[in-house]
Amino acid sequence: MSSPLKIELGRRYRFSASHRLHSAHLTEEENCRVFGKCNNPYGHGHNYVVEVTVSGNVDPATGMIANLADLDAYVERNMLDEFDLKSLNEDVPAFRDTVPTTENLCIEIFQRLKSFPSAKLERIRIEETGKNSFEYSGENSEGNRQ
Ligand code: NI
Repeated sequence: MSSPLKIELGRRYRFSASHRLHSAHLTEEENCRVFGKCNNPYGHGHNYVVEVTVSGNVDPATGMIANLADLDAYVERNMLDEFDLKSLNEDVPAFRDTVPTTENLCIEIFQRLKSFPSAKLERIRIEETGKNSFEYSGENSEGNRQ
């Protein structure tokens, strides 16, 4: 049973990165057909908007579930420093063998942030463009139980 004082906190972050959608599991022709212009060998960039949602109980002393400065520092260290102005394919080890779609980016960012110590990570939502967004809430056992 959840506590009546449990609150969710969502905070938005932005980073810019380039990627190329290309799968080693597909032939050149299949890559072209599946990914279209996103398979261009030179890649292309996106301004990603990432919404990080955490939950926790309201601390009666502070009135907060987590200090935003702590969350910002954690996200900066574990996500922004690693992704901003980078090539996802070349600079992020997880995407050497995994296609850097926004689906996979959600999963990678969830893994990177799930150990945030001050609150439980609920979900990662990413807007790749103004037209599409993706969400990942982890598997049942993931996240940091409070
Ligand atoms: Ni793209």
